[in-house]
Amino acid sequence: MTKKNTATSNQQQLMDKIVSLCKRRGFIFQSSEIYGGINACWDYGPLGVELKNNIKQAWWRAMVYERDDIEGLDAAILMHPKVWEASGHVENFTDPLVDCKSCKLRFRADQIPEENLKLKKCPECGGELTEPRKFNLMFKTFMGPVEDEAHVVYLRPETAQGIYVNFENVYVSMRRKIPFGIAQIGKAFRNEITPGNFIFRTREFEQMEMQYFVRPGTDMEWFEKWREERFKWYLRIGIKPEKLRFHQHGPDELAHYASAAYDIQFEFPFGWQELEGIHNRTDYDLSRHQQYSGKDLSYFDDEIGQKYIPYIIETSAGCDRTLLAVLVNAYDEEDTGKEIRTVLRLHPFLAPIKAAVLPLVNRENMPQIAWEIYKSLKPHFKVFYDDSGSIGRRYRRQDEIGTPFCFTVDSQTLQDGTVTVRDRDTMKQERIHKSEVLDFLKEKITF
Ligand code: GAP
Repeated sequence: MTKKNTATSNQQQLMDKIVSLCKRRGFIFQSSEIYGGINACWDYGPLGVELKNNIKQAWWRAMVYERDDIEGLDAAILMHPKVWEASGHVENFTDPLVDCKSCKLRFRADQIPEENLKLKKCPECGGELTEPRKFNLMFKTFMGPVEDEAHVVYLRPETAQGIYVNFENVYVSMRRKIPFGIAQIGKAFRNEITPGNFIFRTREFEQMEMQYFVRPGTDMEWFEKWREERFKWYLRIGIKPEKLRFHQHGPDELAHYASAAYDIQFEFPFGWQELEGIHNRTDYDLSRHQQYSGKDLSYFDDEIGQKYIPYIIETSAGCDRTLLAVLVNAYDEEDTGKEIRTVLRLHPFLAPIKAAVLPLVNRENMPQIAWEIYKSLKPHFKVFYDDSGSIGRRYRRQDEIGTPFCFTVDSQTLQDGTVTVRDRDTMKQERIHKSEVLDFLKEKITF
């Protein structure tokens, strides 16, 4: 094997290990598994939903609670079909597709070698390819009982439009002045031609989007501010700096609505890929909604005594992609001298379970004391009580799911009321009094 092939196969193995851990430990399951699954759809299990909620919480805190210039929103997934005409998605949200007339396989024209396109030869079987056709990525369904063209509605392909159509509602009801932003977390749907890489590219996914409304002329300044701000957030949730970079969009990469764009990329085992897009959407969206709805969406800026259509700086992150990046970033196999331990070095705030409470043995009042500690923590944190198996095995089980702390009740607890605290990353142990356990966690589990 060449060096490059070995590296590729190691990276593939890493993905396989993460996928297997996710299933075995209740993070992520294939959707509809008992029916053989459905392509590119995934379900978040008990630990996965905790991790995902914590990522969303970390985003909401940074974007809404810690700032005073951003409001939250939760708009409906189904919207008036005209929204998607105005937004340009009906016309432009397409991939060019070619079909092979012999083997019937379908390809994205921009993803097969140019040579094949020129010769019109299928890269799989050498058969003849059709001319590229536009394929719209929006999922369609029907509103009400009549299934005809007049009743078509779309599942939103981005959450952003729910924010634009509510721009006026929000700034009037909340008495906001420009510059200010609106943040939203929610599902989006795209009929992707080539989904894959586990939860990286799926047809149903969650976005964490923020639209920042600014005075024209100040847009590039805000664009720069936001891309720095968003990069810092990934560092704050514990992503290693060497795994992150910016990618600036060239003119042929820009989306139909953007005048400037950067991606924040993460180095996944399958290469550097986009986690989040930061776009200068200019006044494109509000102008188009004004034109299609006939409603005046201009804003009167009393500071300069002028009316204008605000420019929009968008930060658009994928929740599922961030979760995959968090897992890849945290996964570690450590040689302890005795064994290889698998450990998820998650940021404590993101960890699905914050602490495990363990009686060393199931006798001499240890389970009772441990249970009392567990109950005292439960109203504040997601914690876990475990009394089965050797203490070493119990620690390993927690390491593998990223639990930052284990509190163990042992024979010394019976004498002086102290318990051991074991740190996931260093495996070091210290003793604290059982009455200090809650405060200890409160101090450590912060964002
Ligand atoms: N509103 C702008 C917008 O939607 P985008 O770059 O198409 O921009 C933003 O998507 C983010 O949404 C991406 O950076 C990615 O994290 C996530 N995303 C997009 N398509 C996805 C898919 N098929 N599966 C999972 N996440 C996806």
